Amino acid sequence: MSAAVPTAPDELVDRLLRGEHTEARNALYRELRSVGPLLGPGAFPGYIAIGYEWCREAMRKGELQKLTTTQVGHMIVGLQTPEPGNWVHPVFMQDENHRRLKLLFASLFSAKQVRNHQAHFEAIADEEVGAIVPGEPYDLMRGAALRVPGRFIGETIGFPDEVFDEIQPWVHDVAMALEPWATPDVYERGAEGAKQITVALNPLVRARRRDPHHDLLSALVHDTVNGEPLPKRSITALCIMAYTAGYETTMSLIGNTVLTLARIPGLFERVKADRSLLPALLEESMRYESPTHFAPRIAVAPVDVLDQHFDTGDVVVITIGAAHHDPEVFPDPERFDLTRPSGRVLTFAPGPAHCCGEVLGRLEAETVVGRLVDRFDRIELLDDEIEWRPGALLHGPEHLNLRFS
Ligand code: HEM
Repeated sequence: MSAAVPTAPDELVDRLLRGEHTEARNALYRELRSVGPLLGPGAFPGYIAIGYEWCREAMRKGELQKLTTTQVGHMIVGLQTPEPGNWVHPVFMQDENHRRLKLLFASLFSAKQVRNHQAHFEAIADEEVGAIVPGEPYDLMRGAALRVPGRFIGETIGFPDEVFDEIQPWVHDVAMALEPWATPDVYERGAEGAKQITVALNPLVRARRRDPHHDLLSALVHDTVNGEPLPKRSITALCIMAYTAGYETTMSLIGNTVLTLARIPGLFERVKADRSLLPALLEESMRYESPTHFAPRIAVAPVDVLDQHFDTGDVVVITIGAAHHDPEVFPDPERFDLTRPSGRVLTFAPGPAHCCGEVLGRLEAETVVGRLVDRFDRIELLDDEIEWRPGALLHGPEHLNLRFS
């Protein structure tokens, strides 16, 4: 029989799911960890995994399937319930079409394919980093951090590069609708964004039916499920999902890493002097300022995780950010340390729901940060206080004003 699981004060759980940043969030994680590594249902009717081992083991279980953070938000007393109307967020999909997308993604973004595309996103990185004017203030989050992964995933889906600036705000609205605290107006804006992207996609779907290119859209248009072509609604929803998953995460990783380079004395110079430290820099950045904080799950069958039994329908929120600051696995967790052993971060949800864009996300981030380190000798943070993007799911700066010289 499972031991009784302690319940955290509702106020702490509420703060966790609304989102706090860096020092405040680390302090919150410490408080929650002092209650226990696994927290039981209270006013929030689900479990919350805080300890590293609990998070890693829960991620490995196929019986615990993906749930969206917005669905988690619906469960919290005090948070408003979005009224989605006719719109279902693409990330809510768990059907055959969704499995199809994951298969297509696995082939489109395999390590081999990503290497084939590397020259293209390196060219975009050269252009964006090359556009930075030395000595002038530069908002990285409106520049290279946004534009390299954003332009690349847009083109990979099948959009012409010229429409990126028009489409990007709609993609952002769709991503914001995934937050646990998404209020009806945030959710409405997400629905409107998805509608606008669909309008932009419609002529492209027709064109790819006649004339396929090497892009995700063509692959989806000419794909079949049980001998039937995918409905247009599914094709556009899958493209929107790919867009949403495919760049705001990478953008946050780039922003967090460059912020850390600017904040920790001597770090920029150290990495510039020894470029082989770049992979360790990215790995430690993913731990220290985790770009993703939650992987929510629901049990679709009874399952045991460590010594705890979960029944069908039980919800478990895996708190990636808390796991990354578990002192039992990462001693002195608030210290940025390039010498920590690699391969332990849970950033890409290792397990059955593993991120199929991991290779691309890592390489894009390494490319942009590497270009900045190569081109400049100095980096200066101009913001006294960092404005973080609102939200609990993704963690990255909203703006990052820097001076490169
Ligand atoms: C640093 C960059 C990235 C991070 C931190 C990240 C993180 C994640 C995480 C944590 C998940 C699992 C969510 C869950 O289990 O609840 C996920 C899923 C996914 N990611 Fe990523 N990702 C990144 C980059 C990318 C890129 C570049 C792509 C596209 C090329 C991508 C596409 C996807 C897709 C399609 C899923 C699956 C969604 C689903 O199954 O419904 N990701 N990602």
